[in-house]
Amino acid sequence: MTIVSPSEHALREAGLRLREGALVSLPTETVYGLGANACDGAAVAAIFEAKGRPHFNPLIVHVPDLAAAEDIAVFDDSARMLADAFWPGPLTLVVPRRAGSGLSDLVTAGLDTVAVRAPDHPISQTILRHAGCPIAAPSANRSGHISSTSAQHVEADLGCQVSMIIDGGVTMHGIESTIVSVADSSSCFLLRPGAISREEIEAKLGLPLETPNSNSHGRPDAPGQLASHYAPGASVRLNADSANAGEALLAFGPNVPRVEVPTINLSPTGDLREAAAQFFASLRKLDRPGVRTIAVMPIPRHGLGLAINDRLKRAAAPR
Ligand code: TXA
Ligand code: MG
Repeated sequence: MTIVSPSEHALREAGLRLREGALVSLPTETVYGLGANACDGAAVAAIFEAKGRPHFNPLIVHVPDLAAAEDIAVFDDSARMLADAFWPGPLTLVVPRRAGSGLSDLVTAGLDTVAVRAPDHPISQTILRHAGCPIAAPSANRSGHISSTSAQHVEADLGCQVSMIIDGGVTMHGIESTIVSVADSSSCFLLRPGAISREEIEAKLGLPLETPNSNSHGRPDAPGQLASHYAPGASVRLNADSANAGEALLAFGPNVPRVEVPTINLSPTGDLREAAAQFFASLRKLDRPGVRTIAVMPIPRHGLGLAINDRLKRAAAPR
C-alpha cells in the first residue's frame, strides 16, 4: 500500500525521499500534489512520465515561505506585497527566476520566470522543511483526469508510479491555486482563476488584474500555453541525420554521426527520461552566436518522447 498516514516519521521519510529524487504525493490545501525535487531534472521528468502529459507545461514550485521563494526567484514590491498578504495560501506568483537558482530548466519549460507558492497545510509545510529543497508539484492525477482531492484518488490514478502518498484526508479547497503573473513590472495578470478570488487580490493590489490576450478563437489560451515558451533564437531542423557548417547538433542515442559542429547528446543510451531532463538546458546551450540552425536527430515517439517531439515541433514551426 502506498498510502501512508502522516506520522512524524512518515513526513520525515517523505522529505528525505523527495530530496533524493523520488516522487511523493502530498496533500495541500487545494488538491493533492505529485511532488519531486525541483532541482533534479530526472525527478521532474518522472513527474511528466507518471502523469502521461503529452506536453511540457511549466510546473508550480512549492516552498515553505517567502524567504525560501527568494532563493529561487526575484520579488519586486508588488510580488512581495502579495506574498505577505496571501502566503501561506492558495496563491501562485509567476516571478522572474533567480540566476543560479539551481532549478531544473524542465520545471520552467525553459522560461525565465517561475511559478511559486507556499502552501497553507501543516503536512505540506512539514514535508517541505524536511526536504530542504524546492518541490515541483502539479496536481496528482493522470493527464486529462480530474484533480485528486483525496489520497484514494491519487492511489487510483498514480498508485504504481509514486513512492509514497501521504494521507491528509480530503483537501480543503478542492480547486487549484489562483495564478497571478507579476513578472512584468507594469501590470499583473490573472493567469488562472482558483481558490483565492480575483476581487480579494485586486483589493490588496489596489489595481485591476489584467486578463492575458485571447487567441484567434476569442478564447483565452489554456493555462500552460499562456507563457511564450522558450523558443531558441536559432531555427530548428528536425529528423536530422547529420549537421552542416553553421549548425549545431542535438543528438540522441548511441549512433551519432561524426560532425565538426557543437554537439550535445540528450542521452547516449537512448533513455527518454534522461533526454527530457536535459532537453531545455541543452537547447539553451546550443542556441549561441554563430549557430544558425539546431539540427535535431529523431527522438522516439513514445513515453516522454511524445512531449519532447511536441516541444520540438513548436520550436521548428515557421515564425
Ligand atoms: O493548487 C495548485 O496550484 C496545485 C497544488 C498541487 O499546489 N498545483 C498545480 O500545479 O496546479 P501545476 O504545476 O499543475 O500548475 C501548472 C500551471 C501551468 O499550467 C501554468 O498555467 C502555470 O502553472 N505556470 C507555471 N509556471 C509558469 C510560468 N513560468 N509562467 C506562466 N505560467 C506558469
Ligand atoms: Mg492539474
